[in-house]
Amino acid sequence: MREFSWHKLRQQLWSILGGVSVRTKIFGIILGSSLLISLTLLLQAYNAFEREFEFRVREVGVSIARDIAARSTELILVHDLYGLYELISETRESFEDVRYVFILDSQGQVLVHTFESGFPVELLDINPVAPEEFQSTVLVDSGEEFIWDVAVPIFDGRVGTARVGVTNARTHAAALGLIGQMALTSLFFLALGLLASTLLTVVLTRPLKELVKAAGKIAKGDYSYRVQKWAEDEIGALAVAHSEMAEELSRMDSIRRDREELRRTFLERVISAQEEERKRIARELHDSTSQSLSSISFILRNLEANCQCASGPENFAQIHEVVLSTLEDVRKLAFQLRPAILDDLGLKAALDQLFGEWQDRTGIPVDAAIVGQSQRLNGVLETTIYRIIQECLSNVERHARATKVSVLIESGRDEIIVVVEDNGIGMRNPTPDHRQHLGLLGIRERVDLHGGSLLIETEEGQGTSIFVRIPHLVTAGEAT
Ligand SMILES: Nc1ncnc2c1ncn2[C@@H]1O[C@H](COP(=O)(O)OP(=O)(O)OP(=O)(O)O)[C@@H](O)[C@H]1O
Ligand SMILES: [Mg+2]
Repeated sequence: MREFSWHKLRQQLWSILGGVSVRTKIFGIILGSSLLISLTLLLQAYNAFEREFEFRVREVGVSIARDIAARSTELILVHDLYGLYELISETRESFEDVRYVFILDSQGQVLVHTFESGFPVELLDINPVAPEEFQSTVLVDSGEEFIWDVAVPIFDGRVGTARVGVTNARTHAAALGLIGQMALTSLFFLALGLLASTLLTVVLTRPLKELVKAAGKIAKGDYSYRVQKWAEDEIGALAVAHSEMAEELSRMDSIRRDREELRRTFLERVISAQEEERKRIARELHDSTSQSLSSISFILRNLEANCQCASGPENFAQIHEVVLSTLEDVRKLAFQLRPAILDDLGLKAALDQLFGEWQDRTGIPVDAAIVGQSQRLNGVLETTIYRIIQECLSNVERHARATKVSVLIESGRDEIIVVVEDNGIGMRNPTPDHRQHLGLLGIRERVDLHGGSLLIETEEGQGTSIFVRIPHLVTAGEAT
């Protein structure tokens, strides 16, 4: 058998009460308490009426029986049965509630009775009365109704007994009628109460509903909605507090938006300045440093060929080798800073070069797929995608211990999707401390500036997938 638990019962009750609206709760409380009060009052009134009416019926029965007893003494003594019969018939007819009257002699024999279809002998024994008693009353069930049977000794029982049967049907009906009227009146007031309670719940819950609506709007970031103050009570105070809170939140939100806008502008400028600077240094390295090194290489080759000195050729060859290797390093550095091909031939060519150089250096094969629209994107977007892939590859090289990488760039009409997947060890912590690790944060910031989204899927030992989605519209201006 399951154990009864108050705690569970309380929880269940609470969940039922908590599941209905405040309006239903107030309505339920008023309806429930009104019904309870009305029913209790009706029951109490009914009981009181019944008791009072029954007492009156018995009183009437006793006084009629006593009257008959007083008036019949002489008639019994002279054995005037006709007179006796007249007396009880007259009494029976005069009182509507009297069902029967009969008189017994001192031996208990019936002298006269009002029963038309024979005297029911079982009545003789049901209400014996001792001579010294004032009267005796018992309630008799006739099968159709309840009758108070009253027995009064005549002349202290020495002459006989007068018996009268008085029904309480009429008083019972009167009590019921009264209760019916009261019930109708209660129903009328109950209906009035319900009407009033409906108005009350509307008055009470309307401002609450307004507050809930306003809170919902604030939760969705709309701070413009204001709750109307309905009254000077606690709910009115809550409405005022709510409006003040919305005002303050709106002010804070506008400050936050301004700051966010400033941060975006600043970040855009920093990134573009950084790219410009890289471009300038890369060009400088390419145009000036590389050219100078090439000239030195040319001169050295000439000197090597024309030199007459004994130890010259070996030394010149060594210097030439150092110059050539420095030239290669400078070219690589210029490429890493910013490949000129990105500005000249576009993203696809620059990525092909990046993948080739990366594969040669790391020995990890790159499975690259560039699908979709072939038009060139705007320069900023191309740089963004290039830098994202560059950072992802750099992470694979430094952290992933992967044996292969796949890169997908899908350029649709409305957005560009970039997916970089590796089969490495996976990230231990996909939300690293950005004070020390800036690569992924940089990707997120660049993606945010374009209104895109970044998703990192990784599991230890299962590799890492970086999904980037950037919205864009191919315009005539972009397709260069
Ligand atoms: N492909 C990957 N596989 C496994 N771990 C990775 C991968 N990419 C990033 N990580 C983990 O995430 C951390 C954060 O990467 P993030 O690029 O932000 O910083 P970083 O590479 O450590 O430093 P940097 O600022 O130079 O980029 C890395 O330190 C590494 O632990
Ligand atoms: Mg990194």
